[in-house]
Amino acid sequence: MSESTVIILGSSRSDGNTSALVHDYATIINATVVDLNDYEISPFDYNADYNDDFISLMAGLLKYDRIILATPMYWYSASAQMKTFIDRWSDLLKTEKAKGRQLRGKQVVVLATGSDKIPPNCFEQMFQLTFRYLGMDYRGMLYCQCESQYLVEHHHEAIAKFVIQMDRN
Ligand SMILES: Cc1cc2nc3c(=O)[nH]c(=O)nc-3n(C[C@H](O)[C@H](O)[C@H](O)COP(=O)(O)O)c2cc1C
Repeated sequence: MSESTVIILGSSRSDGNTSALVHDYATIINATVVDLNDYEISPFDYNADYNDDFISLMAGLLKYDRIILATPMYWYSASAQMKTFIDRWSDLLKTEKAKGRQLRGKQVVVLATGSDKIPPNCFEQMFQLTFRYLGMDYRGMLYCQCESQYLVEHHHEAIAKFVIQMDRN
């Protein structure tokens, strides 16, 4: 793959199942990993009264051709860290419009882990609808069931297939 890719990890633990999936995946496709736990990201504020890392972080992320969002499924939804990050994309439609325009056409992928065999449709739909609204080029989701911990041998084949499929989409 020739595109540059960044994987954004949003989990309550930086060394858990989603992190293990992210690092496996990053090694295969040679991607950069960014952990939201290393940044201060405030919840969306209607008055845009922020003193945090979001805008500078986003400026760096927009330099990549492809953005991968990685989250555990917490209560059938994205993690709070990931949701807070996505909520802040609203700033890109209001106060940071030049950056918002850079999201249009940007390739985007979702990586997720959860203990259920398959996630409910609503889990992926939140991402799909958001990406559609923003005009992003959604390439699909890889969901890895982790009954307790992430075991690389359980997921290697699925990852390899997904990498090929994502490039074809
Ligand atoms: C707060 C919380 C909520 C969870 N909700 C779900 C859920 O709705 N469905 C599911 O399949 N697994 C659920 N799980 C299990 C996690 O998705 C699973 O263990 C995941 O691999 C954890 O990833 P992490 O180590 O990055 O946190 C939940 C775990 C936590 C801590």
